[in-house]
Amino acid sequence: MTDLLARAEQDPASLTRTDLVRLLSVADGAPFAALEAAARRVREAHTGKAVYLRGLIEMGNRCAKDCRYCGLRRSNRALHRYTIPEADCLRMARWARDHGYGSIVLQSGELESEENTARIERILRALRAEDGEQLGITLSLGEQTPEVYRRWREAGADRYLLRIETSDPRLYAALHPADHSFTRRLDCLRALRTLGYQVGTGVMIGLPGQTLEQLADDLLFFRREEIDMIGMGPWLPHRAAPLGQGTELTPTFCARQLGLGLRMIAAARLLLPTCNIAAATALQALQDDGRERGLRAGANVVMPNITDRLYRADYQLYENKPCIGEDPLKCRGCLEARIRLAGCTVAWHTPGTPKHYQEAQ
Ligand code: 5AD
Ligand code: SF4
Ligand code: FES
Repeated sequence: MTDLLARAEQDPASLTRTDLVRLLSVADGAPFAALEAAARRVREAHTGKAVYLRGLIEMGNRCAKDCRYCGLRRSNRALHRYTIPEADCLRMARWARDHGYGSIVLQSGELESEENTARIERILRALRAEDGEQLGITLSLGEQTPEVYRRWREAGADRYLLRIETSDPRLYAALHPADHSFTRRLDCLRALRTLGYQVGTGVMIGLPGQTLEQLADDLLFFRREEIDMIGMGPWLPHRAAPLGQGTELTPTFCARQLGLGLRMIAAARLLLPTCNIAAATALQALQDDGRERGLRAGANVVMPNITDRLYRADYQLYENKPCIGEDPLKCRGCLEARIRLAGCTVAWHTPGTPKHYQEAQ
């Protein structure tokens, strides 16, 4: 393992699928600590100790899709559905900017309609009219046509997050109903790159039946597709979602999911030193200090929720979502302290463009 880590630090391009599987299966204790330490050194060499913040606005929970793992799936009829009015979205975005967040993420369920497209366009134009190019604006609004992506890019969006969920088309098919398409998801990612977006993707980790080889392939997928930003997190069950029905958040389950999530972050950092890697909120659903653990394993981005408290409970992709009852100001202070505890500093007022993207320009 010592040899492998030394080679990974010196020559990330040499990492093979077998190497990655070894990194992902490293034992708890000293071997895991050595993996994390190597990932931290690589992060510090490339992106320093600074952690970039993205204020997350959960704009709406209506969704046309029916992903088998997600609490927002269209078949979940018990859920109260909301769409945050445009003026309120703008207010939350302004709040983020005024409180030093260098970037925001607008996220919602997947809706493909002219009404939705035009609404997002208006919000983007209003934001850009206020502050030019200063704020990093990321969209996380699912699969759309290239034309819609183009309109949103022209209206001012500069980043897009679209998780591939798994790079294995067979596992993808098991996670989604038949009318959801792996190929379309991939085509969307490629269209976003062509349009000049900073492109983020990611996967769920520890899915029922998922192997370490599949996870290693996910990491190689990020490299092959020249991804700039990685946002991946452990899978968690949801009572209104059929996947993994009956799975309980037992201490054993949480420890396993967290351990695997952290190994994926560390391995991703070693393989892709210049990418931005998020410490996903799902880590915190497993353990109170899960996101700090993510930073210690090599992540350099955190996405604090800045959605009004009123809406938070209705946006639960998985169970045990943290901060449901907290207001954005409380999360801001809490997060700053937590980032310091992880040995990092907060990069206020900066969009935090990934080095991977800058180098490709
Ligand atoms: N557990 C973990 N992550 C989930 N997501 C959706 N449902 C779950 C779940 N049960 C993630 C998906 C999606 C993102 C918005 O949330 O990866 O892309
Ligand atoms: Fe909709 Fe996204 Fe949930 Fe799938 S994962 S059901 S697209 S919100
Ligand atoms: Fe929300 Fe800590 S991040 S209360």
